[in-house]
Amino acid sequence: MKLIYPGSFDPITYGHLDIIKRAAAFSEKIYIAVMVNSSKVPMFSADERVEMIRQSLVELDNVEVITFNGLLVDLFNLYDIHAIIKGLRAISDFEYEFQMAQMNREMNLKAETLFMMTAPQYGYLSSSLVREIHRFGGNIHEFVPSVVEEAMNKKREE
Ligand code: PNS
Repeated sequence: MKLIYPGSFDPITYGHLDIIKRAAAFSEKIYIAVMVNSSKVPMFSADERVEMIRQSLVELDNVEVITFNGLLVDLFNLYDIHAIIKGLRAISDFEYEFQMAQMNREMNLKAETLFMMTAPQYGYLSSSLVREIHRFGGNIHEFVPSVVEEAMNKKREE
């Protein structure tokens, strides 16, 4: 089974990486798609996010990182994908994810979405909280890989 894991990944966190590693264990291939979420202004460019994800996943050989500036459902035919995989943290994620899953399937009947429950230790983690904690000088070491922490430190200095 070929899966696609879409998101903003601005930046990738240990919560995302946990979902990717667990999903990679039961699938033939996972495409991690760095996509545009039109309601967010990103901290990192798409290329910077792709590079950080690649460097965080060196040990997985059935994972490919891509970037796409269009509709997620259009990638289904391009890459011969069977399903979208998403992580669910809390009830608060559900409404948004449910809406996107239904809309994606409305646009393309092949676009099934599978949900994986986040590991409890990452249930509170989000990229936006990581950005905020970092912005105000907090320690993000336990939330993101060191390549991300270094890139965020560099951004702050600029
Ligand atoms: O990590 P995010 O920001 O919650 O991910 C949302 C994302 C990027 C997966 C979503 O905005 C998306 O799919 N964007 C691509 C454009 C698209 O297909 N929009 C229609 C969604 S129903």
